Amino acid sequence: MHKGIKDFAGMKLGKEKIVMITAYDYVQAGIAREAGVDIVLVGDSLATTVQGKDDTVGVTLDEMIYHAKIVKDALKDFFVVCDMPFMSYQVSAELALLNAGRVLKESRVNAVKVEGGEFISGTVKRLTESGIPVVAHIGLMPQFINIMGGYKVQGRIASQIEELVNDAISLEKAGAFMIVLEAMPEEAALRVQNNVSIPTIGIGAGRVTDGQVLVYYDAVGMLDKNPPKFVKKFADSRSLMVNALKDYKDEVKNGSFPSEDNIYKNK
Ligand code: KIV
Repeated sequence: MHKGIKDFAGMKLGKEKIVMITAYDYVQAGIAREAGVDIVLVGDSLATTVQGKDDTVGVTLDEMIYHAKIVKDALKDFFVVCDMPFMSYQVSAELALLNAGRVLKESRVNAVKVEGGEFISGTVKRLTESGIPVVAHIGLMPQFINIMGGYKVQGRIASQIEELVNDAISLEKAGAFMIVLEAMPEEAALRVQNNVSIPTIGIGAGRVTDGQVLVYYDAVGMLDKNPPKFVKKFADSRSLMVNALKDYKDEVKNGSFPSEDNIYKNK
């Protein structure tokens, strides 16, 4: 295995930042490997990226498994995490176990990620005790969009920060080996960071976490809408691709493609 749970814990201890990126298909998985990231997440953000939906609520367990299998097949020796989609783990710990078991058995990913605080820690315990490693996810939890009424920064006031800290502590106690902190002020992330010993991975949580995660399409600039403030576009891939297709169109129209180089000849 390229890197595993012990390595991530060691990276935290050695203060080496952990780099996580999402991937949803074979090409992205290969690019992530070539770039040398540490850990790949098949995020349920595939709903808002690959599927073009407004939020992550609608993506199904079968769809997650389909993409997780493609990514894991491309990254056999790589640590891959798959998001458990909305309503695949909230009903009961038993249902969560059956569904997470399906994810691991059918896609062969190495761990699952679940959104939720202390209230989900019983489920996290059940999964980890059964051999399913869990990444927790607190702060802005996109599966709660209908409760939050939008994607809102969390942990801005003292009581919310307390809650985040309690959530993180109870998720670590339940067995989570890593925790994603999404969309919170750096001060809140630091409080969590100072109260857990598992690696923290931030997305919109500032500079204090043990690592960072970004959505693939955001990081490489492939979407047609502006990403949230915490995203840095490390490339403008969409413009590159649009220009490539414009050149293709122009050359077909004006007859310069296919050229001599692109045609077969009789022997
Ligand atoms: O679904 C996803 O891509 C995620 C990351 C943004 C953490 O949960």
